[in-house]
Amino acid sequence: MRSDVSGLRVSGLCYQVGGRTLLDQVELAVAPGESVAVTGPSGSGKSTLLMCILGLIKPQKGTITAGGREITGLGSAQLAQARRDSLGMVFQFGELLPELTPVENVALPVLLGGGSHQDACLRAENLLGELGVPVGSTPTGLLSGGERQRTAVARALITEPAVLLADEPTGALDPEAKEGVARLLFTAARDRGCALLLVTHDPSVAGQADRRHELQGGILSEAGAL
Ligand SMILES: Nc1ncnc2c1ncn2[C@@H]1O[C@H](COP(=O)(O)OP(=O)(O)OP(=O)(O)O)[C@@H](O)[C@H]1O
Ligand SMILES: [Mg+2]
Repeated sequence: MRSDVSGLRVSGLCYQVGGRTLLDQVELAVAPGESVAVTGPSGSGKSTLLMCILGLIKPQKGTITAGGREITGLGSAQLAQARRDSLGMVFQFGELLPELTPVENVALPVLLGGGSHQDACLRAENLLGELGVPVGSTPTGLLSGGERQRTAVARALITEPAVLLADEPTGALDPEAKEGVARLLFTAARDRGCALLLVTHDPSVAGQADRRHELQGGILSEAGAL
């Protein structure tokens, strides 16, 4: 299911762990095609916020709606389905399968969603071509860091998610590759109408987002221009 009616909405989100409040009444809305960067000190809960949106951590309070569908409160099977339908995720180190080719890595989410092998590979090839990743038989593990992250972006986008999440997507890249991957993420999300929520420590990456927020002491607040 793909809903264009809304991107991402987080409302009254609270999460405490180990006696600390990481998320305290967090409110956030990201419209389709819009990008929001979240910065904040190490350990402030930025990855935790993304894990809540992915449904991998259960918040104590609050609601999360992605692509017009509320995901909080879903059982594990429905949650897995909602994640496949509405969410794409890019991790710092790509989290790709290194022995597979880029096409195979990008085709996987389509195959897991029940698509045919031929359709999945064709779509993966087209998307990788659009995103400038060489399509060949080279295992993904042998590609450059930038090419691997472009592959990770393609894998996140192949299912046409309403919401694209990225946790330090350029954190492991050299400056040139960082620029290319950041530009790709922002452009691809805007062109495809994805709501992009991106966590970064890098001010030059955060500065490319439409809006910036800072998470500190459990409070997510609007941050000023860089
Ligand atoms: N189960 C747990 N028990 C106790 N503390 C936990 C638990 N899970 C996470 N934490 C703590 O919550 C804090 C938030 O972690 P998180 O990974 O969300 O931070 P972050 O903002 O993404 O940091 P970084 O910028 O370094 O990636 C950390 O201090 C972590 O140790
Ligand atoms: Mg983190």
